[in-house]
Amino acid sequence: MRLNPETVDRIKQSADIVEVVGDFVSLKKKGANYSACCPFHNEKTPSFNVNPVRQIYKCFGCGAAGDSIKFVMDIDGIGYGEALRYLANKYNIEIEEEEVTDEEAIRQNERESLYIVLNFAKNFYQQQLHHSEEGQSIGLSYFKERGFTNDTQKKFELGYSLDTWDSFSKEALEKGYSADLLEKAGLLVHKEGSQTAGYDRFRGRVIFPIHNVAGKVIAFGARILKSDKSGSQNQRGANQPKYLNSPETEVYHKSDVLYGVFQAKNAIRQQELCYLVEGYTDVISLHQAGIENVVASSGTSLTVEQIRLIGRFTPNVTILYDGDIAGIKAALRGLDLVLEEGLNVKIVLFPDGDDPDSYVRKVGAEAFKDYLRKAAKDFITFKTETLLQDAGNDPFRLAAVIGEVVNSIIKIPDAIKRQVFFHRTSEMMKVDEQMLITEGNKLLRKLHTQKPQDRGNRQSNAVPDGPDNLEALSGRNFSEDGDTLPPDLFATDQVQEELPQRTKLYYQEEAFIRLLVMYGTRELEPTITVCQYVLGEIEGIDFKDAVFSHLLSLFRENFSRNQVLSTEYFQHHHEPEIRNITISWLASKYELSELWSEKYEIYVPFETDVLDKTAFINILRLKKAFIEEKMKVCLQQAVHAKTEEEQTAVMNEFMFYKSISMAAAKELGSVIG
Ligand code: GTP
Ligand code: MN
Repeated sequence: MRLNPETVDRIKQSADIVEVVGDFVSLKKKGANYSACCPFHNEKTPSFNVNPVRQIYKCFGCGAAGDSIKFVMDIDGIGYGEALRYLANKYNIEIEEEEVTDEEAIRQNERESLYIVLNFAKNFYQQQLHHSEEGQSIGLSYFKERGFTNDTQKKFELGYSLDTWDSFSKEALEKGYSADLLEKAGLLVHKEGSQTAGYDRFRGRVIFPIHNVAGKVIAFGARILKSDKSGSQNQRGANQPKYLNSPETEVYHKSDVLYGVFQAKNAIRQQELCYLVEGYTDVISLHQAGIENVVASSGTSLTVEQIRLIGRFTPNVTILYDGDIAGIKAALRGLDLVLEEGLNVKIVLFPDGDDPDSYVRKVGAEAFKDYLRKAAKDFITFKTETLLQDAGNDPFRLAAVIGEVVNSIIKIPDAIKRQVFFHRTSEMMKVDEQMLITEGNKLLRKLHTQKPQDRGNRQSNAVPDGPDNLEALSGRNFSEDGDTLPPDLFATDQVQEELPQRTKLYYQEEAFIRLLVMYGTRELEPTITVCQYVLGEIEGIDFKDAVFSHLLSLFRENFSRNQVLSTEYFQHHHEPEIRNITISWLASKYELSELWSEKYEIYVPFETDVLDKTAFINILRLKKAFIEEKMKVCLQQAVHAKTEEEQTAVMNEFMFYKSISMAAAKELGSVIG
């Protein structure tokens, strides 16, 4: 239902940015403004600013910016309408809805009613857990046995459903909820044609409410009371499933939902990482151990919608598996989906028989975190290792492994990452890298000649067909004469809209950090290293990309002790991301061709004797890209500006950046020219 425009205006006028943001982060006054560590990215020194006069916030680290509504939308991962409602609620503004069609109103009303009755049910089950005799003696003691504290029970709003046929529905009907609504909410089971009113779906089970991103209860998971893993043999004797879930309803689409996302989202954003587990109890136990960036797929295989839901908060997922090897292998295929969405996937396996819940209780929080750090493997490496072990020395099975692995690699939208993995897996499988790339092209061609409807709704990283694919896929320039088609690391133009886009800033940052890693120790002039020169020039600039930013801080830290880190240091670094990217740079000195400079304005040194010029140019370009990001933010703000004043202010800022950018461009022109 639409809010009427007057209501929207009242909300916008009442909402105060300092109060709204202050509910989520602790702000410190700094002159006329307020500052804090940014809730949208991980940082130690505050670069997040709130301007009470202009009623906007802005992070100079990650570029997040907007007004009160935008802030609520982003911090809660909710839509515009929902954000307005949140603010209306906060400021006690009565919501006047605009006239809507009957059909729309009925639908909206039905959804609202479902939320209301589900919330009622959640309260009822909580009540039963804590205040009924059966709830206390059976439900509570079960949770205690599992080690869930009171706070944990509250946080996840756990409950208990009595072992009777109708204690819930009786109460609900008495309170005026219709049997029809209870059935639509999945709480009442009514057999078709039956004369009776029906019976409660959840009986004699502990209840795990399932929340949507905004925290509303949309469904329940309900566990039978027997700590045994197997669901078939329980105290009821019948063939009852261990977990019983709400059916699909108007507000619960199983494939779109991740358990725990509401409780986890802030932690996921802050740590820039999401742990994915299988069960409700894994999520809850990890929370209790202080690991809050965790969600569960609830026993189903991952869907694209769930992956995209994670992607709203972070591109980094670590999957915590507790299955046996056979199960894991079955799951591996499905994980290509996650790669296709451009997420960075890692896998952690647990020792036989343990799941995250049991393991964290066994070893404690610290050892658990330690284990995660040590045992996490990137998905492609993990997959290659697992399949290789399985294949042994059988050449036919080895060939199948190669096919499987390449099939995963070509799903990765990012060309540089693809290259790293071709390189890495070729070493693991002891086959020629080139052979893998050729294999990749074959698979892509096959994908291409399939009818579109056979390919599902998303295309993978297809490249134009033809003999040049080899180069296209590897990003290498095999011909030195320049007569043939140029190598195209980004030969994916026709599908680029669907793939996550790297910004120009990303490539600038990469070019820059690459220069430091590859040539940081070289001397431009006697006693002046590349490192010293460039670090001095970019004081105060922070990188947006997590890995590059990390590398930059390593350089800065060491440089403050008069040390310049060498290429070898990074090549053998203990963090795989750093090692990999360094190796990919080393392995591909020649891949960054003119095409890059054309497409991304990145100048790549072919000769180290032009190094000082290169360093200078890179700095200018970085600054330019940095400014251009800011210009983009301004434009967005201008579009959403509420008043003319605000728009003017934003445009003035825009023009200011524009002038800097033009100056940088001019300078660049003269240097390159
Ligand atoms: P505990 O045995 O209570 O520790 O639960 P768990 O979360 O460890 O369960 P398990 O590893 O057996 O299953 C993982 C997830 O799969 C559960 O959290 C449920 O979401 C789902 N699941 C397990 N068993 C069933 C079942 O019988 N029916 C349904 N619908 N889902 C199930
Ligand atoms: Mn378990």
